[in-house]
Amino acid sequence: MWAEKVGKQLGHPTRSAAGWLVSKFLTLSNHVLEENAVQLCGIQPGDTVLEVGHGPGLGLQSAAKLLTEPSGRLIGVDYSEYMHQVASERLKELLARGKVTLHHCDVAAMPLVDSTVDKVFHCNCYYFWPDLKKGASELHRVMKPGGLMVTTLRLSNIATLAAKRVMPGENWRPEAYMAALRDSGFTDVKMEDKRHKHNTFQAIYATVSK
Ligand SMILES: C[S@@+](CC[C@H](N)C(=O)[O-])C[C@H]1O[C@@H](n2cnc3c(N)ncnc32)[C@H](O)[C@@H]1O
Repeated sequence: MWAEKVGKQLGHPTRSAAGWLVSKFLTLSNHVLEENAVQLCGIQPGDTVLEVGHGPGLGLQSAAKLLTEPSGRLIGVDYSEYMHQVASERLKELLARGKVTLHHCDVAAMPLVDSTVDKVFHCNCYYFWPDLKKGASELHRVMKPGGLMVTTLRLSNIATLAAKRVMPGENWRPEAYMAALRDSGFTDVKMEDKRHKHNTFQAIYATVSK
C-alpha cells in the first residue's frame, strides 16, 4: 500500500504533504543525474532543447546556462501541475525573458511543432509513462532528423524500487524503453554505464532517423 502511494507521488507529484516531500527529495537527490543528462546530450549554444518530466526544474536551470546564443531555446514538459508550478517559480527570470517555455502536459501529447527540437533529455521519468510507445513516438515527432535523446537513471535503485512495487508494471526496464524508441524510428539506441565521483549510473542514448 505505502509503496503504491510513494510510486504515485514520484510519478505524478501533487500539491500535498507527500508531494512536497517528494519535491524536496527530487531536488536533493537527483541533481547529479539531471546535470549529467544535460552534459551528455551535447547542447550547442543555439539549440532548441526539451526536458520531459522536469520535476522541480534543476536540469532546466543547468541547460539554460549552455544556451548562450539568442536563438537557443529551452522547453520543459511535465504533467504534474504541482511540478509545473514549482519549476515556474524556480525559472521565473528565464520565463520572463522568453528563454524557457514550460508546458503542463503529457509527453504523449505535446503542443510542439514537428521536427523543431535538437536535443531531448530526461531523468527518472519514462518508467511512469502510461504508454512508452506513445511517448517515444511523440519525442520522435517533435525532434529534428539527427537529434539526440539522452536519459539518465540509476538502474540498481530503480530495480530495488520495482521489487518493492514502487514502480508501476514493467516499463521501468531499460529494454522496454529502448524497444519503444527503436519502434518509433530512433536509431543507435544504446545504454552505457557512467561514473560520477564514486557513483555509477546509466545513460540511454537514441538518435532520430527520419
Ligand atoms: C520521479 S520525477 C523526476 C523529476 C526530475 N526529472 C528529477 O529527476 O528530479 C518524474 C517526473 O516526471 C513527470 N512525468 C511522469 N510521467 C509523465 C508524462 N507521461 N508526461 C509528462 N510528465 C510526466 C512527473 O510528473 C514527475 O515530475
